[in-house]
Amino acid sequence: MEMIILLRRAAFFLMKELFLCCARHRTICRKLIFGGAITTVAGAFLHMWFLAWHVTVSSDNSLNGSMQLSETLNEAGIDKFQIFPASSVISLNSSIEVIPSVRIKGKRAGVVNIDRRKIDNELKSIASPPPHRIPTSPLDRYIRTLSPIEALVFAKKEIEHAPIITEHPELYAPLFQNVSVFKRSYELMEMTFKIYIYRDGKRPVFHYPQLKGIYASEGWFMQLMEANKQFVTKDPERAHLFYLPYSVRRLEMALYKPNSHNLRPLSNFLRDYVNMIAAKYPFWNRTHGSDHFFVACHDWGPYTTTAHQELKENTIKVLCNADISEGIFKAGKDVSLPETTIRTPRRPHRYIGGGNRVSQRPILAFFAGYMHGRVRPILLKYWKKDEDMKIYRRLPVHVSQKMSYVQHMKSMKY
Ligand SMILES: *[C@@H]1O[C@H](CO)[C@@H](O)[C@H](O)[C@H]1NC(C)=O
Ligand SMILES: *[C@@H]1O[C@H](CO)[C@@H](O)[C@H](O)[C@H]1NC(C)=O
Ligand SMILES: *[C@@H]1O[C@H](CO)[C@@H](O)[C@H](O)[C@H]1NC(C)=O
Ligand SMILES: *[C@@H]1O[C@H](CO)[C@@H](O)[C@H](O)[C@H]1NC(C)=O
Repeated sequence: MEMIILLRRAAFFLMKELFLCCARHRTICRKLIFGGAITTVAGAFLHMWFLAWHVTVSSDNSLNGSMQLSETLNEAGIDKFQIFPASSVISLNSSIEVIPSVRIKGKRAGVVNIDRRKIDNELKSIASPPPHRIPTSPLDRYIRTLSPIEALVFAKKEIEHAPIITEHPELYAPLFQNVSVFKRSYELMEMTFKIYIYRDGKRPVFHYPQLKGIYASEGWFMQLMEANKQFVTKDPERAHLFYLPYSVRRLEMALYKPNSHNLRPLSNFLRDYVNMIAAKYPFWNRTHGSDHFFVACHDWGPYTTTAHQELKENTIKVLCNADISEGIFKAGKDVSLPETTIRTPRRPHRYIGGGNRVSQRPILAFFAGYMHGRVRPILLKYWKKDEDMKIYRRLPVHVSQKMSYVQHMKSMKY
């Protein structure tokens, strides 16, 4: 329970930071959320998860099975690292091999690009250079000797002792609850965080991203994550999280009978998939799915989990349909994913962004759409009267002739 409370708190703060950032500071936001919402998704989600976990990892009894560890052992390891030179670091007892792989600095799915050399230099002052030159920093190599949980314990300690900064060229400090903590945890996330992607599952539902349309965020997450070298590991023993690489949009196209109003075949399909994964690998049962996640932008994302209790209750859900009233999305554990219409997958950033600076936008908020569901009529009732906002049912023709939907979107602050 402690874990859940902490997860919730950490997630809440991060999301708040992001939202505040978007609302107030478009330039910063552009840096933070470069390339529009889609590329942020991975970074924001990863960081949020990471931030949540470094906070919770010390309460190790909240996890079962092979992920348990003794914290004292790890603290001993960390102290050793801080005191002794790098060569003795590598001799730390660990079943994990040191893999001298080269970090590939591709286009990050991340938020901030932080200079790793700085960290390396900081480290050199406490650890003498290794006898053989390997093109990674001692810290990187040290982290590679750690098990996933040990790495999180290490990160937690590092974050607790984050170097204090008051400003940063890429981060607008007042927007963060604690910018020092954010920066340090982001750096450590980039160094330590690993995801394993199950290769099981056939196209079209699995490994086949839909990159166009209103549900494209889930496809872009899959596309970017499967191509990612930094966060993805081929060795599941090194993973902090396990990605279930399916697309709910593809699931709908493959299995939904139009007008049947029956999602059962879809949820049964996912139930069978998860049972297969749980039988084939040890990882699911180890945490009952708590370190597994999926990403869905399609509205049905939450509902298609209902045939499998653990999938529904335990997995981390990254959803555009983050409706807590359904009882499936849990604030704090799950993550809200921005929904972004992508019209041309070859140029995903086209039609995204643009318009005036937020301070020069005349409309506070804009909405136009059908009146389905419970919320929209209520919003209409209360907000229609507000002159700062433009709230419509469907956009009336006499309005759209003067100003299109897209122009409205680009003229509003929110
Ligand atoms: C851990 O295992 C115990 C007993 O084996 C069980 O009661 C508890 O619910 C498990 N906790 C989690 C988080 O799975
Ligand atoms: C490393 O740990 C294993 C099992 O925990 C133990 O058997 C082995 O003796 C240890 N090795 C060293 C060098 O401490
Ligand atoms: C931010 O966190 C660091 C590390 O925990 C702490 O030392 C510092 O006082 C915090 N700063 C603020 C402004 O809360
Ligand atoms: C995981 O648990 C399920 C249900 O209890 C069981 O059917 C499956 O065989 C287990 N998987 C492994 C790898 O032991």
